Amino acid sequence: MANQGLILWLTGLSGSGKTTIAKGIGQELQARSCMVEVLDGDVVRTNLSKGLGFSREDRNTNIRRIGFVAHLLSRNGVIAIVAAISPYRAARDEVRNMAGKFIEVYVNAPLAVCEQRDLKGLYAMARAGELRAFTGIDDPYEEPLNPEIVCYTAEETAEESIAKILAELERQDYIPPKPEIEYAI
Ligand code: ADX
Repeated sequence: MANQGLILWLTGLSGSGKTTIAKGIGQELQARSCMVEVLDGDVVRTNLSKGLGFSREDRNTNIRRIGFVAHLLSRNGVIAIVAAISPYRAARDEVRNMAGKFIEVYVNAPLAVCEQRDLKGLYAMARAGELRAFTGIDDPYEEPLNPEIVCYTAEETAEESIAKILAELERQDYIPPKPEIEYAI
């Protein structure tokens, strides 16, 4: 097998760049013949977590469900990449303690930058009072205290963030180093 299983957990505000980074890593790992699966909050909420809302309790239920599936995958050798706001520290730590092989990536962009991007128009709705309990506006986001990796997506490109994460996975021997391309003469 080309890789070891683990949970790569991306946490951060809506619009911070979690999905872009998760997809990018997923593609790169597939190209390296690693077993990989991406669990994205927006997608999970249309099936596994359908019907859950955004109260603290529902968000934590969402995180526990994602963590459960990610753990099943990771213990079978899959790199389970999770992209979810996962705003509560205790819920993230719960998954970490349950899973063992767990790397937390803080996808860190200032609220003002995420709000400016407003890819889905949800920040505008939250500011207008049309959407309640929106993370960062009128609902909390608890920053990781000791993440293994921080990606400053307002300052680095997605490619730089992805490269940083891959380098850490290589350093910890979860994935083999990218083979050098050999040119036939
Ligand atoms: S989490 O808090 O439970 O981890 P998750 O990552 O699954 O959240 O889902 C977040 C997505 O739901 C956002 O990207 C956004 O598209 C949508 N969303 C809808 N309402 C809210 C809200 N009140 N707070 C945050 N995200 C919301």
